Amino acid sequence: MSNALITAIKKRRTQYSLGRKLPLPQAEVEALIKEAVRLAPSAFNSQSSRITILFGAQSDKLWDIAKAELRKIVPADGFAKTAEKLESFAAGAGTVLFYEDQNSVKELQKQFPLYADNFPVWSEQASGMAQFAVWAALANVNIGASLQHYNPLIDSETAKTWAIPDSWKLRAQMPFGANEQPFPEKTFISNAVRFKTFG
Ligand SMILES: Cc1cc2nc3c(=O)[nH]c(=O)nc-3n(C[C@H](O)[C@H](O)[C@H](O)COP(=O)(O)O)c2cc1C
Repeated sequence: MSNALITAIKKRRTQYSLGRKLPLPQAEVEALIKEAVRLAPSAFNSQSSRITILFGAQSDKLWDIAKAELRKIVPADGFAKTAEKLESFAAGAGTVLFYEDQNSVKELQKQFPLYADNFPVWSEQASGMAQFAVWAALANVNIGASLQHYNPLIDSETAKTWAIPDSWKLRAQMPFGANEQPFPEKTFISNAVRFKTFG
């Protein structure tokens, strides 16, 4: 199949081996991330996703926070492995923090009580769409990334460090940087298991 979007989607992979050097100036990467989030869909066009972009030393600070929090709960004899993993994220050029604004969710619940139960779910789905859009946009300019979930462990300290509003709920962290390793082969389950088509 030859299709520009599918080709771009195919380029998005999990990259754990990250380097500092970006193929684009920092300002262009920042603009790319913002545009990907802006264009991602959300329920009722509520635009509930909120983003913090950390470059360089600010991103290092995030992974130091994760390390400090994990040190409190990971047994000491297993911590070296944990630390190594966190250092691999810090080795990149930056990290995108994905939040969902709970005020936006509450506002929709008030406005449309019939769908009240759905708005928290749709907010999570909107976050996933924003995450995918950013991940694919970065991949399309040859920037590697992975998707991490150290929330809620790091919520309190990160909120304090970057003055994050109380209503912003941290959903994911995406460390990004230069692709330092090729991607391993990806396997797929059979289409017969996943798809049904009629008509
Ligand atoms: C909702 C979701 C949650 C994920 N959480 C993590 C995670 O916490 N840590 C991680 O290293 N990868 C995480 N991943 C990445 C997946 O493991 C990865 O996308 C999958 O194995 C397919 O590999 P690919 O990204 O190279 O296509 C997550 C992916 C999705 C979609």
